[in-house]
This record gives sequence, structure tokens and C-alpha cells, in this order.
Amino acid sequence: MPEAVRWSPDHRAVHIIDQRALPERHVERDLRTLDEACDAIRTLAVRGAPAIGIAAAMAFAVAMADAGTLSVSGRRRRAAQVSDALRATRPTAVNLAWALDRMLRIADAADAAALGDALVREATAILDEDRAMCRRIGEHALSLFPADARVATHCNAGALATGGIGTALAGIYLAAERGDRVRVFVDETRPLLQGSRLTAWELQRAGIDVVLIADATAPAVMRRGEIDLCVVGADRIAANGDVANKIGTYALAVAARHHGVPFFVAAPSSTFDPATPTGADIVIEQRDADEVRRGFGALTAPPDVAVYNPAFDVTPASLISAIVSDRGVHRPPFDFRAST
Ligand code: MRU
Repeated sequence: MPEAVRWSPDHRAVHIIDQRALPERHVERDLRTLDEACDAIRTLAVRGAPAIGIAAAMAFAVAMADAGTLSVSGRRRRAAQVSDALRATRPTAVNLAWALDRMLRIADAADAAALGDALVREATAILDEDRAMCRRIGEHALSLFPADARVATHCNAGALATGGIGTALAGIYLAAERGDRVRVFVDETRPLLQGSRLTAWELQRAGIDVVLIADATAPAVMRRGEIDLCVVGADRIAANGDVANKIGTYALAVAARHHGVPFFVAAPSSTFDPATPTGADIVIEQRDADEVRRGFGALTAPPDVAVYNPAFDVTPASLISAIVSDRGVHRPPFDFRAST
């Protein structure tokens, strides 16, 4: 499995696979400064809700490594600055805020002399916990897979998006591990092509049968009866079960409902947001118009045409057959107000 994010050997940098270069080139980079980490998250060098949370936690530890020498108020100010800068990079994935809140609690409580080590330990725990949650999600998802399942997915919710074997892709990997012949229809995922650049790459590398389709093709494949189920990841799950995920997820869910195909969402506990009542309360990140106008490195639209480019959409809970987390399979009616 590719490791999207890990420590550099000296724990003084966040080591990532630069996902902007895939699949053309496999580039790995160290993020040594706060600016480098913020830029990497903003530009999707590291991406996917859980991976963003892990990278931000590590970047926080790196940026605060020497803050033990500051006064208590100086340390608090520095922690707030670092956390605010990382938090502002991408607003929709709740894992980012969740991970930073954990780091802030440690920064507040640790002894000055122990601060650096305590922060590295907490960021490492966030990574390790995510790896374990991915595995458990996969085990629960398996109960929803028929033998030799034909699955559709959108964007990348695989190893490249997490600290482990992914969320949406976890069940697929475990089904293959138990000997199933799984076939995965992967949406290209316009405009940034996380499906074709990342999911097709990582599944093919793992020896899974992949069929890449343009986003608009999924309903036609469903109509031919060639998809047994859809499974996607999530960036934030509201208390009522509405799910924010990559733009195009909602369209896939609508098509799945029309064709009677079960539509599953897979996510770790860190993606549930009990404080957000419904999908309407989720802030949706808006991205640069040129991601759509110059999508393939060439001008693909009039250079100044108006563009609407939300990075995510909200799939209403009513279209979701089940949400799979590390804690089990949640069926509607969903109520995540308390905990998952
Ligand atoms: O903009 P991205 O590539 O970060 O969007 C990623 C997604 O929408 C994923 O489906 C989601 O973060 C879940 S990743 C396990």
C-alpha cells in the first residue's frame, strides 16, 4: 500500500507522496515548515479527509517543536497561530479541525520540557488510530459485499487518502484478500481527476480489476446491470446522516437510487460531526475557476468564462443505504447527535 503521509526519520518533517504528480511520477517530499505544510494541503499534494488530518497534526508538532522555550502565553499564542493557519487551508473535511483540536489540547496541557515529545506522540497516535480504523471499516464493509462484487466508487478514498487501507476502498481490498474477484468502476472525478489519477493507480497497483469511466457513464453502467453497489468516502457526516464528499457523489447517489443499486458511505469516527445538524450547515470549499477552465493543462474553456467550482456536494441521508464506520454498519434513520 502506498503511504500517503508519514514522519521523516528525525520527526522534524512531514513526509508525503506528492499526489499532484501521480500517476505520471512518484514524487515524495518532506514538508519542513508551516508554510510548506499549508501549501501542500491547499494544493492537494496531500489530500483526502483522514490524510489531511494526519498531515496537519504532524505539521503542528513540527511547527511547535521548539515552543517549549516560550512563556505559557507565548506558547498558547503560537499554538493558536499554527492551528489557525492549518485549519484555514480546507474548510470541509472535519478531520482537519478534529486533529488540530487534539493537538491543541496536548499543547495546552504538556509540560514545557515534554512538549515536543508529547506532540509527536499525539500525531503518531492519530496516524496509528486511523490505520486501525481503516481496517475495521473494511471488515464491516465486507458484510455488505456480495461474492465477486462489482463496485462503483468516486474520487479517492483509498490508501492515498488515509493512514491505512482507505475507507471506501478498504472493503474492496479485504474482499480481494479473501479471494473474491472484485471489479471496480472508477469515476474519473472531474475536475481534478482523483478517480483516474489516484484510485485507478492505487487499485491497479494492488492487482484489482479496475474499469475507469467518465463521471457521466456510471448511470449507463448501472442500467446495464453491471454494478452491485456503490461505496464512497466522506469529508464530513452531519448529525442527521447527510454526507459531504467530492463533487459528483450526489449525482452518483441519485443514479444509484434510480437503478435500485445500494449506496454506501465508508468513514472513520473522526469524520462524524455531531455538532453540525444537517448537510445544509456544512461549509463547502469553493476552488479556483482554472481547475475547470484549464483542467488538463490546456485551455478547455474560454479563459474568462464564469465557473462554479465547489469541491464537494452533500448527499442527503435519504439516498444512503448505510454508513460504515470503524464502529459498525449504521442503517437509516441515522442519528449521530451523540456519538458514532
Ligand atoms: O479534494 P479531495 O481530494 O481531498 O477530496 C477527497 C474526498 O472527497 C474523499 O472522498 C474524502 O476525503 C474521503 S477520503 C477517505
